[in-house]
Amino acid sequence: MNQVKKAIIPAAGLGTRFLPATKAMPKEMLPIVDKPTIQYIIEEAVKSGIEDVIIVTGRSKRAIEDHFDKNYELEVNLEEKNKSELLEVVQSITNLVDIHYVRQKEALGLGHAIWCARKFIGNDPFAVLLGDIVIDSEVPVLKQMLDVYNEKNRSVIAVEPVDWKKVSNYGVIDGEKINDQLHLIQQLVEKPKVNPPSNLAIMGRYILTPQIFDILESVKPGVGGEIQLTDALQELADVQEMYSYIYNGKLYDVGSKLGFLQATVEFALKSDEVSETFEEYLVDYLKDRYYTMKN
Ligand code: UTP
Repeated sequence: MNQVKKAIIPAAGLGTRFLPATKAMPKEMLPIVDKPTIQYIIEEAVKSGIEDVIIVTGRSKRAIEDHFDKNYELEVNLEEKNKSELLEVVQSITNLVDIHYVRQKEALGLGHAIWCARKFIGNDPFAVLLGDIVIDSEVPVLKQMLDVYNEKNRSVIAVEPVDWKKVSNYGVIDGEKINDQLHLIQQLVEKPKVNPPSNLAIMGRYILTPQIFDILESVKPGVGGEIQLTDALQELADVQEMYSYIYNGKLYDVGSKLGFLQATVEFALKSDEVSETFEEYLVDYLKDRYYTMKN
């Protein structure tokens, strides 16, 4: 069985939900406390055993490449000022993992972004981690999914049960329950307007077999006129077993304003550096606000 050692991070989307901040800055670079979103995602991949990462980038995404590149001027400056801890932090980013880049010339959808990385993946199974989804968990979610993949040797899709009222915002799956976390997928629907097959929403992490590329080659634009990964996944599920996995962890959609704010507050409350002072500030602020509202 082929081991999963490569991951694609699609990061070429336009980020319209976060305009105007994302007009010139990639949403994948939005910082959560002091680290860009995409760095958390790469760290999850590395902790799960991924050895090569390919980031799908587009226009206005140069900051991503610069972040993972060496910055000689900054390193010399930190060295001269004896800021050895910061120097270590900066250097460790460059040494995280082998990172490659491919350009998606037009933001034609997630399915198209993944197809753009096909030559890098070749005939191996691979992981996909969306560039704006951070998941906080004890065991990295990709690692949890790889454990399933290593047993089944088939594609695995991360899902989470969501409020039924919000199901139409997501791609959802339907399938045969195998255990509390695992379903054998029968159906996948992108943003169902009526009669959603379940409330199990697809959530930004995938392990896929390379057969998906042949399907992506010919899949027609779907919801929103975009080449939807979900449509290609349905075709793959029709010919090959595919599993959904309800992961253990807390997800933040950093590409949405609310998700970004939640991640910022909750990660700050866990940060060694600022948690104490930030919590004090937050409690005082909310007490004042509540008191003012009542009077
Ligand atoms: P999203 O649907 O969240 O990205 O895609 P978006 O289109 O940028 O979002 P909004 O709705 O306009 O705010 C999830 C991930 O897939 C990438 C995005 O960069 C994001 O990390 N993506 C999406 C691509 O790489 N290419 C695309 O054509 C679309």
